[in-house]
Amino acid sequence: MSVTLRTLQQYKTDEQKFSVLTCYDATFAHTLSEAGIDVMLVGDTLGMILQGHDSTLPVTVADMAYHTACVARGNSASLIMADFPFMAGATTERALEAAHELMAAGANMVKIEGAGWLAETITTLKRNGVAVCAHLGLTPQSVNALGGFRVQGRDDDSARSLINDALTLEDAGADIILLECVPRAVTARICEQLSVPVIGIGAGPECDGQVLVLHDMLGLNTGHVPRFVKNFMAPGGDIPSAVAAYDRAVREGRFPEPQHCF
Ligand code: KIV
Repeated sequence: MSVTLRTLQQYKTDEQKFSVLTCYDATFAHTLSEAGIDVMLVGDTLGMILQGHDSTLPVTVADMAYHTACVARGNSASLIMADFPFMAGATTERALEAAHELMAAGANMVKIEGAGWLAETITTLKRNGVAVCAHLGLTPQSVNALGGFRVQGRDDDSARSLINDALTLEDAGADIILLECVPRAVTARICEQLSVPVIGIGAGPECDGQVLVLHDMLGLNTGHVPRFVKNFMAPGGDIPSAVAAYDRAVREGRFPEPQHCF
C-alpha cells in the first residue's frame, strides 16, 4: 500500500518513527521504495550532489521537475516530496507555479524553506490542494544570510522564535515540519507542541521521522561530513542492505545516536 500523508499522521499518533531519504533518479527510487523508505525527498541538494555546485542556489524549478519525474517513474509505494528551489516561494504567484510544475511531475507534496513569513504562501498552497512541508532551522538556501551552515536555535531568543515559527506554520496549514540542525532540547519542545509530524536532520531522535541525504548515508560524501551523518554502507557493503539498515535503525529509534545530535 502506498504511503500517504494520512499514513504519516497515523505514525505520529501511534508514536511510530518513519524513514525519509533524498532521491534523485528512477533506479534509486526503485531501491528505496522497495526497501520500505516511507518518503523520498527530491531535495535541491541535487545541485551539490548531482550537479557539482557548492550550494543549492543555482537549482531551478525545471531541474526539480525533471528529477521529480525520474523518481516518480521508479517509485512503487513511497510518498514523494519535492523541494522548492531557491526563490521559488518568493511570491505566492511563483509558489503556485512551482507547485503546479512539481505536482504535475509526480510529487505528492512540496517542501519549502523559510520561517514564519511563509504562512500566507502555505495557506494559499493548501487552498489549492498542495500538501506542504515547511523546512525550518538551518535552511541551506539562506546560507549567505545565515553566515554559513550553522546550528540554529542555540540561544533562548532564537529557540523561542523557532518554536513560534513552527507553531505559526502549523496554524497556516503546514502538514509536516522539517527541522535541520536544531539542538535536540529545542526539537523536543517543538515536537511536544505540534500535532503534525516532524522530520529531523541533525535535530535529534525526538523527531517523528528522520531524513539523510542518500549519498551521505552511502559514504559517498566527497567533502566535509556533517556531524549528523552516519555511513550505513560500511557494514553490509551493498546499497539495498544499507538502505534497509537505515530504515530499520530509524523505525527502531536507534538512529540518530547521541554523537549525531547537537
Ligand atoms: O535538499 C535536501 O536534500 C534537503 C535535506 C537536506 C533535508 O532539504
